[in-house]
Amino acid sequence: MKTLTIIQPDDWHLHVRNQAVLKTVLPHTARQFGRAIIMPNLKPPVTTVAQALSYREEILQALPPQSDFNPLMTLYLTAATSIDEIKKAAESDYIHAFKLYPAGATTNSDAGVANVKAIYPLLAKLEQHDIPLLIHGEVTDPQCDIFDREREFVESSLTEIIQEFPNLRIVLEHVTTCEAVQFVQEASHKIAATITPQHLLYNRNALLAGGIRPHFYCLPILKRERHQLALIAAATSGQPKFFLGTDSAPHLTHTKENACGCAGCYSAHAAIELYAEAFEQADALDKLEGFASFFGADFYGLPRNTKIITLKRSTWTVPASYGEGDIHITPLRAGEPLNWKLQS
Ligand code: DOR
Ligand code: ZN
Repeated sequence: MKTLTIIQPDDWHLHVRNQAVLKTVLPHTARQFGRAIIMPNLKPPVTTVAQALSYREEILQALPPQSDFNPLMTLYLTAATSIDEIKKAAESDYIHAFKLYPAGATTNSDAGVANVKAIYPLLAKLEQHDIPLLIHGEVTDPQCDIFDREREFVESSLTEIIQEFPNLRIVLEHVTTCEAVQFVQEASHKIAATITPQHLLYNRNALLAGGIRPHFYCLPILKRERHQLALIAAATSGQPKFFLGTDSAPHLTHTKENACGCAGCYSAHAAIELYAEAFEQADALDKLEGFASFFGADFYGLPRNTKIITLKRSTWTVPASYGEGDIHITPLRAGEPLNWKLQS
């Protein structure tokens, strides 16, 4: 039986929500990953250190007994973020980054930043304190074609931010285009990117061919195949600029199977298995450990994990749904087989 043993991975981009959804999804992440960067786009968003610390407590309470999973907290950047809050974040052992959502770009981004230039004084503070800035890199201009929004953001806002703040550490989250990949490759070592399992495994045909499949709808939206191929090449390249970030984003099934469905793919139930499949298809399983377990920790300046996990090549069927009572979450690959299984 074929097995793959690697140092325990971390998830550098994760949505766990709160309350009942948190309790449903967190054990899925905690059984695989040592740590995860927790996204702050709750309703209302997590904008202060005090809010992040209480959210962290809620997450720790929701963990299975004996779990040593470590949630790495982030703050949601807004036009109203104060310089003092950035200083407090820099002094906290628990806050690892700020997240920039262009206002209206995605789920719960209304409180985001409408004018990126207006928050340059805040970016200067992040640069000064060496706190990473995590970016949802899409323009929000309604005139801009949804398939071009990432490329436009990279060419306009991101290029300017990097020129203005050359020492600011930036993670361009969930890259989806060959233009974003090339930009990150050519940028300094301060610039990195996360890649999701769905963008490695699928392109927009999965979303739109033969019927609209809402469980493949996420933002940035799946692109055409040549972009998928560029992402696979980047993830399996062994370049430390590219690392694992699932962007697992649970939504209740009825809010996705809807005339106006929510954006987000739920992948935490089988994240490392989905990545293993993508790397195996690219004949690059030997590159999985760097991408999943080393490069993110190195970028964030955190120690690499020391435990190991083992994946076995054995087929299992993903449940149609997770949750109980009112909570129903349809996972990526619901009801379909996966060929890798994490050993407990
Ligand atoms: O598809 C997405 N869902 N993209 C995001 O950027 C946010 C996420 C969510 O929070 O649901
Ligand atoms: Zn996200």
